Amino acid sequence: TLKEKGVVGYSSPSNIALIKYWGKRENQIPANPSISFTLAACMTKTSVEYQKKAQKNDEFSFELFFEGEAKEEFKPKIKTFLKRIEVYLPFLKDYHLVIRTSNTFPHSSGIASSASGMSALALCFMEMERSFSAPITDEFFNRKVSFLARLGSGSACRSIEGPLVQWGETASVKGSSNLFGIKYPYKVHKVFNNFHDTILLVDKGEKQVSSTVGHELMHGHPFASQRFDQAHDHLEKLGLVLADGNLKDFISIVESEALTLHAMMMTSNPYFILMKPNTLSIINEIWKFREESKTHVCFTLDAGANVHVLYPENEKDIVFPFIKEKLISFCQNGQYICDRIGLGAKK
Ligand code: PMV
Repeated sequence: TLKEKGVVGYSSPSNIALIKYWGKRENQIPANPSISFTLAACMTKTSVEYQKKAQKNDEFSFELFFEGEAKEEFKPKIKTFLKRIEVYLPFLKDYHLVIRTSNTFPHSSGIASSASGMSALALCFMEMERSFSAPITDEFFNRKVSFLARLGSGSACRSIEGPLVQWGETASVKGSSNLFGIKYPYKVHKVFNNFHDTILLVDKGEKQVSSTVGHELMHGHPFASQRFDQAHDHLEKLGLVLADGNLKDFISIVESEALTLHAMMMTSNPYFILMKPNTLSIINEIWKFREESKTHVCFTLDAGANVHVLYPENEKDIVFPFIKEKLISFCQNGQYICDRIGLGAKK
């Protein structure tokens, strides 16, 4: 039974893809499978206060506060999300909702907040449903949250659990689905415990290409089918690496994925270069240092100029000083975020 009023809240993390999702079909169905590290520090904290409307009508009724301030410009995105998930959560129009949300990472840092933001909201709405209905298992809860979050932003479906989440049907991962992310179901080598991701903020400006436009560019892209095949192939190879901890192979898959993502943008119509000169400088410094130090530091990128520097916990004392001395000078205002692999959303 529906309650008169209440409040629910969740914190949900961002994630960084090792195998990239780039290209989709209708209803946020990915063109290829992807897998990501869930992060621990970059989080969105959201609460939803709900109050039954005096009279039910056919409108969504909600207010939105971002970091304490009313944000009209974010409302259309939330409304689109509500419309997409309404059939799965029919009670949403019965309530007036007050959504309060904030990020642990700096506003407009060029760090996408759609994964953490949409997953946090999906968690809140599912928590409402859970409080109205008969008990459900955590597994069902997580699956439905991931399913709903996907409809907000594809990559958001990979933010509910951790440390590794796989989304998109592929033969090599049992139980994988295009409709929701699953916690990676196989044993992962201990070298990936506590893996670090130091995020270098190279360019904090507005994204030149929104991911919506980016996915669209894969329709009719001259290399689309080769790229989608490559993602399946990389995923299968990464499966072996995750099991045996071979960091050399890890590096070659992860860096190739990052550069392929950007190669797809450079070869689409219209074409884009989303890296900045400092992005390339950082990549070259990482390659040079990796050779000299015999460590396993590597990089990945999302659809922008910022660089995610990945390295294992047991190399932190060598790699982090290098990052501080050599790489921070390429960041805008010297800004970076120390993140690491995380376990998913929490209340
Ligand atoms: O979730 P979206 O639609 O914003 O797409 C995200 C795409 C990338 O971040 C570039 C890659 C990924 O798999 O996260």
